[in-house]
Amino acid sequence: MKRLAIFVSGGGTNLQQIAEYFAPNPDVKIVCVVSNNKDAYANVRAKKLGIPLIMLNSKAKARDAELQSQYDVSQTFDFQDNAFSDYLKSLDVDLVVLAGFLWLVPQHLLDAFPMRIINIHPALLPKYGGKGFYGHHVHEAVVAHHEKESGITIHYVNGHYDSGDVIFQKSVALSETDTADDVAAKIHILERDNFPAVIDKLLKSL
Ligand code: GAR
Repeated sequence: MKRLAIFVSGGGTNLQQIAEYFAPNPDVKIVCVVSNNKDAYANVRAKKLGIPLIMLNSKAKARDAELQSQYDVSQTFDFQDNAFSDYLKSLDVDLVVLAGFLWLVPQHLLDAFPMRIINIHPALLPKYGGKGFYGHHVHEAVVAHHEKESGITIHYVNGHYDSGDVIFQKSVALSETDTADDVAAKIHILERDNFPAVIDKLLKSL
């Protein structure tokens, strides 16, 4: 049995696709969803999927009660606190998957899960990566630069934004008339068709 922790900040379409992909597989389990955004639709998805939700924030205690009532939050942690990686360790997590998660991963977590944290980025890194390049901002920049292609990059996570070793890339052709929304739609299809399968392959190699 391989155990996944999925980190989210936004809509959670990747979370949904990963959960659906592995649902029929008794050898893979998503043991928790970790969110840093109390308004993320991904939190609702976690609840609907029946996966325990862990909230991260810097004032965990003060917001505990509010979050508990909203989403059945199972735990809250300060992201910078070692207690958080200890908790993930106690869940026997094999692989941490950042699926639209926007905070920089702290050193204690990198140390606790060496080469076991991966991220998906909606562009062909090293292009359009780094701080500030996330979600729609990436697609807007791609269109502004009249790129003929974009794509996805799945990579290991290190202490810097979008710069760890690349595991997988896939490109898609863009047309001159594509808007940022059109690019987003194309990238979404690439994510759906590739991210769960790449995770599956990686899990088999662990
Ligand atoms: C995805 O397109 C993902 O590649 C991107 O955020 C989106 C999250 O969508 N990630 C980044 O930009 C990371 N820098 P989702 O919440 O619907 O899965």
